[in-house]
Amino acid sequence: MIHVHVVEKGNADAYASVLEQYHRWRHLIYVEERGWSGLRKEDGLERDQFDNEDATHLIALLEGEVAGGSRLIPMSKPTLLSEVFPHLVERGAVPRDPDAIDWTRMFVVPAHRLGRRPRSVAGAMFCAVMEYCLAVGATRVGGIMETFWLPRWQEFGWTTRPLGLPQDVAGAMTLAAFMQVSEKALAGVRTATGWHESVLVWHRAPGLVRRREVA
Ligand code: COA
Repeated sequence: MIHVHVVEKGNADAYASVLEQYHRWRHLIYVEERGWSGLRKEDGLERDQFDNEDATHLIALLEGEVAGGSRLIPMSKPTLLSEVFPHLVERGAVPRDPDAIDWTRMFVVPAHRLGRRPRSVAGAMFCAVMEYCLAVGATRVGGIMETFWLPRWQEFGWTTRPLGLPQDVAGAMTLAAFMQVSEKALAGVRTATGWHESVLVWHRAPGLVRRREVA
């Protein structure tokens, strides 16, 4: 059974070995497979300036092994979109509110890539992102993304708002866009991926209360 774990500042110590595996997979996938050589690190762990205390990592575990992951950061903090690719935002300003969540580094380890088959690791990750965003009271999630994602969001019934036209980034057509966060969006991705139950595991550090819980 796949579960997607929420790994954040408050519980990162308990996930030290999982986090190392996650960053190692990111290196294998982004540097070796996709050829994003600017991310190469001598220790074989892909981390950048945004892998800091503001980042929450959603990590899919299958029998204790990392099967996929993603990184989420509130747009009120520095993000890849705000600091590196703000020029992709042509319509209005770069979102800087905490209710908008920047979503980057979505990956599935090669052995678990199943495309659109039901109950895939990718499907669990998509459900987890929407479930997490609802849990923290976010209203939209997105940032910089390649255009190949857009038909997927459509299959989930997600409402996507592009903030500019696609541009060539490292040979891939890429745009800034945010998807609306809602119960309907969660229901849509669950139906499309076959993950009807919650996939999220969130061991909160004692004393940490999420915004939605106090609302
Ligand atoms: N460019 C264009 N299309 C891509 C793509 C890319 N870089 N990566 C995946 N796709 C397409 C596949 O062609 C396939 O399309 P199809 O169903 O119409 O044939 C579909 O996405 C599914 O991809 P697949 O890899 O089979 O399965 P998946 O849904 O389990 O995983 C990813 C999708 C993107 C998570 C996985 O391919 C991956 O981890 N890739 C490397 C990391 C990455 O590039 N992430 C995106 C940028 S952060």
